[in-house]
Amino acid sequence: MHDKTRALMQRGCQFLGTEYAILCGAMSWVSERNLVSAISNAGGFGVIACGAMTPDLLDTEIAATKALTAKPFGVNLITMHPMLLDLIAVCAKHGVTHVVLAGGIPPKGSVEAIKEFGAKVLVFAPTLALAKKLLRSGADALVIEGSEAGGHIGPVATSVLAQEFLPELSAEHVVFVAGGIGRGDMIAAYLEMGAVGVQLGTRFACATESIAHPAFKKAFFRANARDAITSVQVDPRLPVIPVRALKNKGTEEFTAKQIEVAKLLDAGAVDMGEAQLQIEHFWAGALRRAVIDGDVESGSVMAGQSVGMVNSEEPVAEIIAQLMDQSEAALAR
Ligand SMILES: Cc1cc2nc3c(=O)[nH]c(=O)nc-3n(C[C@H](O)[C@H](O)[C@H](O)COP(=O)(O)O)c2cc1C
Repeated sequence: MHDKTRALMQRGCQFLGTEYAILCGAMSWVSERNLVSAISNAGGFGVIACGAMTPDLLDTEIAATKALTAKPFGVNLITMHPMLLDLIAVCAKHGVTHVVLAGGIPPKGSVEAIKEFGAKVLVFAPTLALAKKLLRSGADALVIEGSEAGGHIGPVATSVLAQEFLPELSAEHVVFVAGGIGRGDMIAAYLEMGAVGVQLGTRFACATESIAHPAFKKAFFRANARDAITSVQVDPRLPVIPVRALKNKGTEEFTAKQIEVAKLLDAGAVDMGEAQLQIEHFWAGALRRAVIDGDVESGSVMAGQSVGMVNSEEPVAEIIAQLMDQSEAALAR
């Protein structure tokens, strides 16, 4: 079954140690022990989202995930976490096999520290030149993620990134594609272009095994692609990394907050550092409010444009089976 898809996924499966080269991208608050183990137990590759966790919390989460699955899974670390090296040490202690470095260029020494305990390193790269540099300096695999994705995003669409990166890199390197993938037909297309596998987030966020609040899941089921919008930056002095989330009161309040802080800046009431801190603080906790507390009005309901293809709660195994069936049917055509 799924022979054509499996053949194209072979390098990715080998790299991940899985049955299918389908990663569930780390989603802060959502990608914890339950969803991660469910994905890995179903033959995919789950990734724990460390987010702002302390080393102790990460320690607990990895141990709890190991208790739920004997299959491989990864840990996603945010590069600007102030305790990055301590988090890497926790991964080493548990013998984590794959570490994903997200949120910016890996700081000096981090890739080396991960490789030292034998784990594989996956990185993101915004440009082809940077991707080549990271792969030269020890990264084992690359995830290219387009602007259709949910959460923090770059400016370029997945379809364009795929054309830029895959022809150049796919013969020699392990490249996964992420952003906007809702059906297996799309997986087939990227595999045919040379990707060894794919990463999905939005499609898995509301799986039966996901602990996301029922109100969060309901918001996903109701939403269309056009509801998953990017945050806007109102003042060039206050840089905001765009976030794709469902349009709600929170997204509007965020725009208003930026205007308010810009005015304080104009009046000399705050300096630049304080202004940027206020902007960051506004977002801190917003995703948690939506995912855990179910506040989908003022919280941040991060979602990709594929949210329109998420219509009901389904077990992870069924979602993966559907994706594989669709990919195989597309390749057979
Ligand atoms: C609710 C949510 C939270 C996310 N949080 C993170 C995160 O903490 N770290 C990260 O690297 N990516 C994060 N992402 C991105 C996903 O890992 C994944 O790359 C993305 O969802 C793939 O695109 P898709 O949403 O179109 O499937 C998040 C995405 C969503 C939807």
